[in-house]
Amino acid sequence: MKTRITELLGVDHPIQVGTMMHISNAEFVAACANAGVFACMATAMFPDEVTLRDELAKAKDLTDKPFGVNVSLFPGHDARTVDVTLDIVAEAGIKIIETAGRSPQPHLEKIRQNGAIHVHKCARLRDAIKVDKLGVDIVSIVGAECGGHPGMEDVSTLVLIPEAAASIKAPLFAGGGFCDGATLVAGLAMGAEGVIMGSRFLNTDECRIHANTKERFLRAELTDTMVIQRSIHSPVRVLQNEWALKILEMENSGATLQDLLPKLSGQLSGQSWLTGGDDAVFPCGQVIGRVKETLPIKALVDKIIAEAGATRKRLAAI
Ligand SMILES: Cc1cc2nc3c(=O)[nH]c(=O)nc-3n(C[C@H](O)[C@H](O)[C@H](O)COP(=O)(O)O)c2cc1C
Repeated sequence: MKTRITELLGVDHPIQVGTMMHISNAEFVAACANAGVFACMATAMFPDEVTLRDELAKAKDLTDKPFGVNVSLFPGHDARTVDVTLDIVAEAGIKIIETAGRSPQPHLEKIRQNGAIHVHKCARLRDAIKVDKLGVDIVSIVGAECGGHPGMEDVSTLVLIPEAAASIKAPLFAGGGFCDGATLVAGLAMGAEGVIMGSRFLNTDECRIHANTKERFLRAELTDTMVIQRSIHSPVRVLQNEWALKILEMENSGATLQDLLPKLSGQLSGQSWLTGGDDAVFPCGQVIGRVKETLPIKALVDKIIAEAGATRKRLAAI
């Protein structure tokens, strides 16, 4: 399956393992690259410059395949300024940059100076059209069912993707609900040239989260996620647990960002992923309800590609 995206990024398969804060470190991203799929390191999870430099160098040691870095433009997400992060990435010689969170316009010159391929991820059709006009190399868009930040508009992947693909010139990465070969083929059928799978890769051997949390995800049903933080205009889809329900209750009672921050601190520090407890929020998409096994990344990618082949055969026979 060769598309403009596989050609531009130099990867075997039209799949991105979605960047995941506190998870997409050197080992995880290198394992994805070695399995022939695209992934980006979450630079914002390394608060000091030395750790970030070390982690980028480590990833380069672990793979000779292409990988990228995610530079977060979400307000308050990254301890450094965007410029400092971009400088460190350029020094490390990494040539694929993913941005997300707000318009990348103020940073375009610097990204282009570095000669990097620029992927920008958004959640609204109008933002996809805007960044396409700005000339980014790849546009990513995620539907309302996605894990992480779905945006405020609640348009599902099935409705959003064909419309976005028809509205932009750049190749499109589609995210939100993709998890196997059939959904990969469906994404390509809708006009995307690659799909993003985030939540599906939480249940992989190389994902650093605690075994209890992986077990909890395996038990999740399709209806076990919910969206919080709408009241502060930064919606996040998370696993529905007592902690998330409490946050929603506080929001419904008029809590401010300051009131909510203590409840969100586990998510902000990332510790909650490593302890296996349930007293925190865990971003994940609706598709977590379809994940039934934990696999090594390479085995998972091979399985998805085999399923995609079977799906294409089945369709050809219809
Ligand atoms: C645990 C988790 C953390 C995430 N962190 C980020 C992030 O730091 N930056 C980002 O751009 N997207 C982030 N995302 C979104 C993913 O990159 C991807 O867009 C999304 O998971 C795709 O939808 P899916 O979960 O239905 O596969 C995160 C998603 C999850 C599940």
